[in-house]
Amino acid sequence: MARIAYVNGRYQDMRDACVNIEDRGYQFADGVYEVCEVRGGRIVDMPRHLARLQRSLGELRIAMPMPLSALQVVLHEVVRRNRVSYGIVYLQISRGVARRDHAFPVKPVQPSIVVTARTISLAKGEDSAARGIKVITVPENRWPRVDIKSIALLPNVLAKQAAREQGAYEAWYVDSDGFVTEGSSSNAWIVTQDGRVVTRSAEFGILAGITRSVLIETLAALQIRFEERPFTPSEALQAKEAFVTASSQIVMPVVAIDGQAIGDGTPGNIAKRLREQFHRFSAFS
Ligand code: PDD
Repeated sequence: MARIAYVNGRYQDMRDACVNIEDRGYQFADGVYEVCEVRGGRIVDMPRHLARLQRSLGELRIAMPMPLSALQVVLHEVVRRNRVSYGIVYLQISRGVARRDHAFPVKPVQPSIVVTARTISLAKGEDSAARGIKVITVPENRWPRVDIKSIALLPNVLAKQAAREQGAYEAWYVDSDGFVTEGSSSNAWIVTQDGRVVTRSAEFGILAGITRSVLIETLAALQIRFEERPFTPSEALQAKEAFVTASSQIVMPVVAIDGQAIGDGTPGNIAKRLREQFHRFSAFS
Protein backbone atom coordinates (compact mmCIF):
# COMPACT_ATOMS: atom_id res chain seq x y z
CA MET A 1 0.00 0.00 0.00
CA ALA A 2 1.33 3.45 -0.93
CA ARG A 3 2.17 5.69 1.99
CA ILE A 4 0.54 9.09 1.80
CA ALA A 5 1.90 12.38 3.13
CA TYR A 6 0.26 15.77 3.35
CA VAL A 7 2.65 18.42 2.00
CA ASN A 8 1.65 22.07 1.76
CA GLY A 9 -1.96 21.52 0.82
CA ARG A 10 -1.75 18.22 -1.06
CA TYR A 11 -2.02 14.55 -0.18
CA GLN A 12 0.73 12.79 -2.08
CA ASP A 13 2.36 9.42 -2.45
CA MET A 14 5.44 9.54 -0.18
CA ARG A 15 7.65 8.64 -3.14
CA ASP A 16 6.65 11.84 -4.91
CA ALA A 17 6.28 14.09 -1.88
CA CYS A 18 9.06 16.64 -1.53
CA VAL A 19 9.91 20.04 -0.14
CA ASN A 20 11.87 22.89 -1.66
CA ILE A 21 15.66 22.70 -1.13
CA GLU A 22 15.55 26.25 0.21
CA ASP A 23 13.03 25.33 2.86
CA ARG A 24 14.33 26.81 6.11
CA GLY A 25 13.51 23.58 7.87
CA TYR A 26 15.95 21.82 5.58
CA GLN A 27 18.65 24.48 5.73
CA PHE A 28 18.44 25.79 9.29
CA ALA A 29 16.24 23.31 11.18
CA ASP A 30 14.02 26.39 11.51
CA GLY A 31 10.80 24.66 12.44
CA VAL A 32 8.86 22.66 14.98
CA TYR A 33 7.16 19.29 15.16
CA GLU A 34 4.76 17.09 17.08
CA VAL A 35 4.35 13.33 17.32
CA CYS A 36 1.00 11.91 18.47
CA GLU A 37 0.17 8.34 19.26
CA VAL A 38 -2.55 6.70 17.15
CA ARG A 39 -4.62 3.99 18.78
CA GLY A 40 -7.57 2.25 17.21
CA GLY A 41 -7.26 4.77 14.36
CA ARG A 42 -7.82 7.64 16.78
CA ILE A 43 -5.34 10.33 17.78
CA VAL A 44 -4.34 10.40 21.44
CA ASP A 45 -4.36 13.71 23.32
CA MET A 46 -4.44 15.79 20.15
CA PRO A 47 -5.67 19.02 21.83
CA ARG A 48 -2.66 19.03 24.15
CA HIS A 49 -0.27 18.39 21.26
CA LEU A 50 -1.82 21.21 19.25
CA ALA A 51 -1.60 23.57 22.22
CA ARG A 52 2.12 22.76 22.58
CA LEU A 53 2.55 23.18 18.82
CA GLN A 54 1.03 26.65 19.01
CA ARG A 55 3.32 27.53 21.88
CA SER A 56 6.44 26.28 20.02
CA LEU A 57 5.44 28.25 16.92
CA GLY A 58 4.79 31.35 19.02
CA GLU A 59 8.21 31.13 20.69
CA LEU A 60 9.87 31.02 17.25
CA ARG A 61 7.49 33.59 15.73
CA ILE A 62 6.36 31.22 13.00
CA ALA A 63 2.76 31.73 11.90
CA MET A 64 0.27 28.86 12.15
CA PRO A 65 -0.19 27.92 8.48
CA MET A 66 -3.85 26.92 8.80
CA PRO A 67 -6.67 27.11 11.32
CA LEU A 68 -6.43 24.49 14.08
CA SER A 69 -9.72 22.93 12.99
CA ALA A 70 -8.33 22.39 9.47
CA LEU A 71 -5.13 20.96 10.89
CA GLN A 72 -7.14 18.45 12.89
CA VAL A 73 -8.88 17.36 9.71
CA VAL A 74 -5.51 16.91 7.97
CA LEU A 75 -4.11 14.84 10.84
CA HIS A 76 -7.13 12.55 10.79
CA GLU A 77 -7.06 12.32 7.02
CA VAL A 78 -3.40 11.29 6.93
CA VAL A 79 -4.07 8.63 9.56
CA ARG A 80 -7.06 7.41 7.58
CA ARG A 81 -5.33 7.39 4.18
CA ASN A 82 -2.44 5.39 5.62
CA ARG A 83 -4.86 3.04 7.37
CA VAL A 84 -3.00 3.41 10.64
CA SER A 85 -4.75 1.62 13.44
CA TYR A 86 -1.82 1.68 15.84
CA GLY A 87 1.14 3.97 15.22
CA ILE A 88 2.08 7.61 15.11
CA VAL A 89 1.18 10.74 13.21
CA TYR A 90 4.01 13.22 12.64
CA LEU A 91 3.52 16.92 11.98
CA GLN A 92 6.21 19.39 11.05
CA ILE A 93 5.95 23.10 10.37
CA SER A 94 8.92 25.15 9.18
CA ARG A 95 9.25 28.88 8.65
CA GLY A 96 8.97 28.33 4.90
CA VAL A 97 11.00 28.78 1.74
CA ALA A 98 13.32 31.73 1.24
CA ARG A 99 16.73 32.52 -0.21
CA ARG A 100 19.31 31.34 2.32
CA ASP A 101 19.90 34.01 4.96
CA HIS A 102 20.06 33.28 8.67
CA ALA A 103 17.68 36.09 9.67
CA PHE A 104 13.94 35.70 9.11
CA PRO A 105 12.77 36.42 5.54
CA VAL A 106 12.12 40.15 5.21
CA LYS A 107 8.95 39.53 3.26
CA PRO A 108 6.99 36.97 5.28
CA VAL A 109 6.68 33.59 3.55
CA GLN A 110 4.06 30.90 3.97
CA PRO A 111 5.22 28.33 6.56
CA SER A 112 5.66 24.80 5.18
CA ILE A 113 3.67 21.95 6.63
CA VAL A 114 4.22 18.21 6.34
CA VAL A 115 2.13 15.48 7.95
CA THR A 116 2.95 11.76 7.80
CA ALA A 117 1.63 8.72 9.64
CA ARG A 118 2.90 5.24 10.06
CA THR A 119 1.95 1.97 11.59
CA ILE A 120 3.97 0.68 14.53
CA SER A 121 3.89 -2.88 15.72
CA LEU A 122 1.84 -2.93 18.91
CA ALA A 123 3.32 -6.34 19.71
CA LYS A 124 6.89 -5.03 19.46
CA GLY A 125 6.10 -2.16 21.82
CA GLU A 126 4.53 -4.54 24.33
CA ASP A 127 7.50 -6.83 23.97
CA SER A 128 9.95 -4.01 24.76
CA ALA A 129 7.80 -2.98 27.71
CA ALA A 130 7.75 -6.56 29.01
CA ARG A 131 11.55 -6.72 28.84
CA GLY A 132 12.26 -3.10 29.77
CA ILE A 133 14.83 -0.87 28.12
CA LYS A 134 18.39 0.07 29.01
CA VAL A 135 19.56 3.66 29.16
CA ILE A 136 22.95 5.31 29.18
CA THR A 137 23.78 8.74 30.55
CA VAL A 138 25.37 11.50 28.47
CA PRO A 139 26.31 15.09 29.34
CA GLU A 140 23.59 17.64 28.60
CA ASN A 141 24.78 19.51 25.52
CA ARG A 142 21.57 20.98 24.10
CA TRP A 143 20.57 24.61 23.89
CA PRO A 144 18.58 25.97 26.86
CA ARG A 145 15.33 26.26 24.87
CA VAL A 146 14.51 22.56 24.90
CA ASP A 147 10.98 23.60 25.95
CA ILE A 148 10.44 24.37 22.24
CA LYS A 149 9.74 21.20 20.27
CA SER A 150 12.15 22.22 17.53
CA ILE A 151 13.25 20.01 14.65
CA ALA A 152 16.88 20.93 15.49
CA LEU A 153 17.69 17.57 17.02
CA LEU A 154 21.36 16.96 16.31
CA PRO A 155 22.38 16.49 19.98
CA ASN A 156 19.41 14.14 20.39
CA VAL A 157 20.43 12.17 17.30
CA LEU A 158 23.98 11.77 18.60
CA ALA A 159 22.81 10.79 22.08
CA LYS A 160 20.41 8.18 20.71
CA GLN A 161 23.11 6.79 18.45
CA ALA A 162 25.53 6.56 21.41
CA ALA A 163 22.85 4.58 23.26
CA ARG A 164 22.38 2.22 20.33
CA GLU A 165 26.12 1.66 20.03
CA GLN A 166 26.23 0.70 23.71
CA GLY A 167 23.36 -1.74 23.40
CA ALA A 168 20.87 0.63 25.05
CA TYR A 169 17.66 2.18 23.78
CA GLU A 170 17.70 5.65 25.28
CA ALA A 171 20.20 8.22 26.56
CA TRP A 172 19.48 10.37 29.60
CA TYR A 173 21.05 13.79 29.63
CA VAL A 174 22.77 14.83 32.86
CA ASP A 175 23.12 18.57 33.47
CA SER A 176 26.14 20.37 34.93
CA ASP A 177 24.66 20.06 38.45
CA GLY A 178 24.61 16.27 38.09
CA PHE A 179 20.85 15.91 37.62
CA VAL A 180 19.07 13.96 34.92
CA THR A 181 17.16 16.33 32.66
CA GLU A 182 15.36 13.99 30.24
CA GLY A 183 15.93 11.42 27.52
CA SER A 184 16.90 12.16 23.94
CA SER A 185 13.28 11.59 22.93
CA SER A 186 11.44 10.98 26.21
CA ASN A 187 10.95 12.26 29.75
CA ALA A 188 12.72 10.47 32.60
CA TRP A 189 11.12 9.15 35.80
CA ILE A 190 12.02 7.07 38.85
CA VAL A 191 10.03 5.38 41.61
CA THR A 192 11.64 5.65 45.05
CA GLN A 193 11.94 2.67 47.41
CA ASP A 194 8.93 3.97 49.34
CA GLY A 195 6.80 4.24 46.20
CA ARG A 196 6.93 7.92 45.27
CA VAL A 197 6.99 8.64 41.57
CA VAL A 198 9.51 11.36 40.73
CA THR A 199 10.14 13.45 37.63
CA ARG A 200 11.77 16.78 37.06
CA SER A 201 9.73 19.98 36.83
CA ALA A 202 8.96 21.04 33.27
CA GLU A 203 9.71 24.66 34.10
CA PHE A 204 13.28 24.49 32.83
CA GLY A 205 15.62 22.07 31.06
CA ILE A 206 13.11 19.64 29.55
CA LEU A 207 10.33 19.41 27.05
CA ALA A 208 6.92 19.53 28.74
CA GLY A 209 5.91 16.07 27.52
CA ILE A 210 2.25 15.47 26.80
CA THR A 211 2.55 11.91 28.09
CA ARG A 212 4.19 13.39 31.19
CA SER A 213 1.28 15.76 31.80
CA VAL A 214 -1.36 13.05 31.32
CA LEU A 215 0.60 10.70 33.55
CA ILE A 216 0.71 13.26 36.36
CA GLU A 217 -3.09 13.31 36.23
CA THR A 218 -3.12 9.52 36.11
CA LEU A 219 -1.00 9.39 39.28
CA ALA A 220 -3.40 11.72 41.06
CA ALA A 221 -6.41 9.65 39.98
CA LEU A 222 -4.75 6.43 41.13
CA GLN A 223 -3.63 8.10 44.37
CA ILE A 224 0.01 7.33 43.76
CA ARG A 225 2.36 9.75 45.48
CA PHE A 226 4.12 12.12 43.10
CA GLU A 227 7.11 14.38 43.55
CA GLU A 228 8.24 16.94 41.00
CA ARG A 229 11.97 17.41 41.54
CA PRO A 230 15.25 16.56 39.85
CA PHE A 231 17.12 13.32 40.57
CA THR A 232 20.67 12.14 39.91
CA PRO A 233 21.77 8.99 38.05
CA SER A 234 22.95 7.50 41.37
CA GLU A 235 19.53 8.09 42.96
CA ALA A 236 18.01 6.43 39.89
CA LEU A 237 20.30 3.43 40.36
CA GLN A 238 19.12 3.07 43.94
CA ALA A 239 15.48 3.55 42.97
CA LYS A 240 12.91 0.79 42.98
CA GLU A 241 11.98 1.46 39.37
CA ALA A 242 12.64 3.80 36.50
CA PHE A 243 10.78 4.49 33.29
CA VAL A 244 10.50 6.92 30.41
CA THR A 245 7.46 8.51 28.81
CA ALA A 246 6.84 9.64 25.24
CA SER A 247 3.88 9.62 22.89
CA SER A 248 5.39 6.81 20.87
CA GLN A 249 6.25 4.71 23.94
CA ILE A 250 3.62 5.61 26.54
CA VAL A 251 5.24 4.36 29.79
CA MET A 252 8.35 2.31 29.05
CA PRO A 253 10.11 0.61 31.97
CA VAL A 254 13.88 1.17 32.32
CA VAL A 255 15.79 -1.80 33.73
CA ALA A 256 19.40 -0.63 33.61
CA ILE A 257 21.38 2.60 33.60
CA ASP A 258 24.95 2.62 32.29
CA GLY A 259 25.06 -1.15 32.50
CA GLN A 260 23.86 -1.35 36.13
CA ALA A 261 20.54 -2.97 36.92
CA ILE A 262 17.73 -1.05 38.61
CA GLY A 263 16.05 -3.13 41.31
CA ASP A 264 16.07 -6.74 40.18
CA GLY A 265 16.65 -5.73 36.56
CA THR A 266 13.07 -6.34 35.45
CA PRO A 267 10.23 -3.87 34.76
CA GLY A 268 8.70 -2.48 37.94
CA ASN A 269 5.11 -2.95 39.05
CA ILE A 270 4.25 0.73 39.17
CA ALA A 271 5.56 1.33 35.65
CA LYS A 272 3.60 -1.68 34.41
CA ARG A 273 0.45 -0.50 36.13
CA LEU A 274 0.82 3.03 34.77
CA ARG A 275 1.33 1.68 31.27
CA GLU A 276 -1.86 -0.36 31.58
CA GLN A 277 -3.90 2.47 33.05
CA PHE A 278 -2.59 5.38 30.96
CA HIS A 279 -5.20 5.38 28.22
CA ARG A 280 -8.04 5.57 30.70
CA PHE A 281 -6.88 9.11 31.32
CA SER A 282 -5.97 10.23 27.82
CA ALA A 283 -8.31 11.84 25.31
CA PHE A 284 -9.09 10.20 21.97
CA SER A 285 -10.20 12.07 18.89
N1 PDD B 1 9.69 12.77 21.46
N2 PDD B 1 11.52 14.93 25.63
C1 PDD B 1 12.00 14.93 24.38
C2 PDD B 1 13.35 15.51 24.12
C3 PDD B 1 11.21 14.40 23.33
O1 PDD B 1 11.69 14.41 22.08
C4 PDD B 1 9.94 13.85 23.63
C5 PDD B 1 9.06 13.27 22.56
C6 PDD B 1 9.50 13.86 24.96
C7 PDD B 1 8.16 13.32 25.35
O2 PDD B 1 7.13 14.15 24.89
P1 PDD B 1 5.66 13.61 24.58
O3 PDD B 1 5.21 12.87 25.79
O4 PDD B 1 4.87 14.84 24.33
O5 PDD B 1 5.80 12.73 23.38
C8 PDD B 1 10.31 14.42 25.93
C9 PDD B 1 8.91 12.39 20.29
C10 PDD B 1 8.00 11.25 20.55
C11 PDD B 1 9.85 12.18 19.13
O6 PDD B 1 10.75 13.01 18.98
O7 PDD B 1 9.68 11.25 18.36
